[in-house]
Amino acid sequence: MARKNVVRLDEINIPTQVELLDIYIYPLEGGLLQPDSADIPSEEESSNDAQAESEDVVQTVDPRNSLNDLTGKEWLPETKSFFFQKGLGAKHPHAQIERLHPAPYSFQDIGRLILFFTKKGNSVLDPFGGVGSTAKACALNGRICTSIELSQEWHELSIKRLETEVSEGSSSEHSFINADCIPTLKTFADNTFNFMVTSPPYWAILNKKADHKVKKGRVEQNLATNYSSSEKDLGNIERYEDFLETLVQDVFKECGRVIKEKRYMCLVVSDFRNKSEFISFHSDLIQRLSHIDVGNGYELTLQGVKILAQNHKSLLPYGYPFAYVENIHHQYILIFRKTKKKGAAK
Ligand SMILES: C[S@@+](CC[C@H](N)C(=O)[O-])C[C@H]1O[C@@H](n2cnc3c(N)ncnc32)[C@H](O)[C@@H]1O
Repeated sequence: MARKNVVRLDEINIPTQVELLDIYIYPLEGGLLQPDSADIPSEEESSNDAQAESEDVVQTVDPRNSLNDLTGKEWLPETKSFFFQKGLGAKHPHAQIERLHPAPYSFQDIGRLILFFTKKGNSVLDPFGGVGSTAKACALNGRICTSIELSQEWHELSIKRLETEVSEGSSSEHSFINADCIPTLKTFADNTFNFMVTSPPYWAILNKKADHKVKKGRVEQNLATNYSSSEKDLGNIERYEDFLETLVQDVFKECGRVIKEKRYMCLVVSDFRNKSEFISFHSDLIQRLSHIDVGNGYELTLQGVKILAQNHKSLLPYGYPFAYVENIHHQYILIFRKTKKKGAAK
């Protein structure tokens, strides 16, 4: 028997892009906005849509889809505002390089984003490459990565990771740059990359006194607890405001310039505590990046905030029995798009 709360894709009439814009923009904005005309199909295209067999919509890649290689059926679940983090597990042979880095993300989670925001053969930028999780996700999915990493140690490990965990010679199909991303990004031409995905340092939290979890997990096993001692490492900037300014103005704004028009960037970040203060890093980034001018009449606009749930993490009794102190068991994926500024010349 079919589950009650599951709607089968081939049973519903998938709305055209025009209808979707009507449904979602109207109630949010209190008036029907005129969407960017380049984003909506012509009348002729729309009537063709209506005639499309629902079966085809579900099973095939729409010929107008210039974003990814997903069928309608594969596309829909990826628009959900959350997903659960997936990893290999610490004991897996292919998790041994990743373990050496203090804050890697999961190449499987990033693979999902890459499959949604790019087509096969597209280029992907990661300005904070770490041990190459983005590059590994690209290599496994037929995309081409440019991975910039300041520390020589992590840079070398990212190349080794592809060679040992993907296939011998696979690292040579991607570009690994061992440098400070700030001057490096300036060397790329406007509109170079199809997609940008990264996780930046979270200010200087890794330089704080190790808490119980870190002590048990990394200090006792003699694993690195911060990225580097370099003054160019954004994780070593002392004041939070200075850190945010550098990250936004010198890195993410520049990433906006070098991604192609109408393409996306995903920032994987978490909120954190500094002593007793809760710092909502994700909302500080949204405030600073929304509508930031990235040149040539374009800006970054927020498209969504996905929750990446980390349901496997162990709970620690931080404030018990006196105060609410959160176990932060999720990350945010901030999804921005490079869109034309309202009123900018066509
Ligand atoms: C959160 S980690 C990224 C981890 C990566 N996503 C992975 O899975 O391996 C941030 C990385 O940024 C690097 N980093 C810090 N400042 C940098 C800079 N100015 N230029 C390039 N990389 C930098 C750090 O060395 C660290 O490896």
